[in-house]
Amino acid sequence: MARSEPDNPARPPPGVRLCAVADLADPGTKGFRFREGQRLFAGFVVRQGETVRGFVDSCPHAGWPLSGLPDRYLTRDDRHILCAGHGALFRLSGECVAGPCVGDRLTNWPVEIRDGEVFTA
Ligand code: FES
Repeated sequence: MARSEPDNPARPPPGVRLCAVADLADPGTKGFRFREGQRLFAGFVVRQGETVRGFVDSCPHAGWPLSGLPDRYLTRDDRHILCAGHGALFRLSGECVAGPCVGDRLTNWPVEIRDGEVFTA
C-alpha cells in the first residue's frame, strides 16, 4: 500500500462526510474504508478536544494498517496512537516517538469540521 496514495482511485474526494464530531470520544478515533474496484483506501480520524485530524491508515515503518480493531487506534491511556504491527507509538499529531520509525510521521489525510461534522478536505 503506498503511503500517501494521492492517486488511489478509492481515496474519497473532498467534501465526503465521515462522521459527527460528537461520534468521537475525546480523545478518540474512528477508522474508514473506501473501495473502488480492487483498490482500498484506509484512513482514520483522531479527535483531541475540538481538533480532529485525519491520517492514512498506513504505518511509516512497514506500510501496514495500524490497528487490527475497527475504530481502536489509541493506547489504553489514550495518550498515543499505537501501531499493532511492531508497537510504534505516535503523538496524536502524528509524529512517531517510539518504535522502529521514530522521527517519521503518519501521512496526513486532510479533514475539516463544518457545523460539527467531519468531512474530507
Ligand atoms: S508496521 Fe508499524 S511498527 Fe512496524
